[in-house]
Amino acid sequence: MRIVLLGPPGVGKGTEANMLSKKLSAVHISTGDMLRQEVRENTELGRKARSYMNHGKLVPDDIIMAMVKKRLKKMGTVPSGTVPNFSGFVLDGIPRTFVQAEALDDILKELGASLDFVIDLDAREEVLIERLSGRRVCKKCSALYHITNMKPKKDGICDRCGGELYQREDDKVETIRKRLKVYQEETKDLIEFYRKKSILFTINAEGKPEETFRKIMSNLNV
Ligand code: AP5
Repeated sequence: MRIVLLGPPGVGKGTEANMLSKKLSAVHISTGDMLRQEVRENTELGRKARSYMNHGKLVPDDIIMAMVKKRLKKMGTVPSGTVPNFSGFVLDGIPRTFVQAEALDDILKELGASLDFVIDLDAREEVLIERLSGRRVCKKCSALYHITNMKPKKDGICDRCGGELYQREDDKVETIRKRLKVYQEETKDLIEFYRKKSILFTINAEGKPEETFRKIMSNLNV
């Protein structure tokens, strides 16, 4: 199944994409995680992206789409005789603009595929701010935690791999507000774009992660 998760910063796209990709044996593709990896490795792409990210702005479409195209093409290219894993992915954080949505359609067409579902996760702004300001992420494996909602067993240490937890540079309150504004201005209209294609459903994501996950699964009919 080929799925896009839409929704504002902090709504739980990463959290739900993790659960969904495991359940559906699909590949989780997060442009945010890919970019942070490039920043950590101090690549040319990472150096270009860093200041946009730290200021809560979108990284330019051409940079994003080149990165996504490379990733999707890699999924579609498998040695002959093996099963292509291109059949399933969960896109988290892409597309965020009309240019990206159209470019994504073109890449998929080129690969002989299309999207099955777009899941629009929704929550009130105060919920988003509370989630983002308390988020902690593992430096090693990118697992997600929250200082009150989803605490690690041992303070500051990842349950999964023992890595150190940190607060994202863009999870400071002023940058969170900027990211929410950018979402309203540049991404929110994509909801209508996908509704017209009849592949979108909206889920209230204010409940616990498992509750949101159950709602998603019941809409997917799997
Ligand atoms: P990205 O990393 O994609 O950030 P985002 O979209 O702002 O989303 P977040 O990762 O902040 O939130 P989320 O919805 O995934 O929530 P999460 O599951 O972590 O992008 C970062 C930056 O990269 C962008 O600002 C931009 O600069 C750049 N970028 C990325 N993609 C781009 C693109 N396509 N084009 C241009 N630029 C791009 O959950 C948040 C917290 O809440 C966690 O602590 C979690 O534990 C907790 N939580 C989750 N669900 C629940 C729940 N149900 N109940 C309680 N707590 C919960």
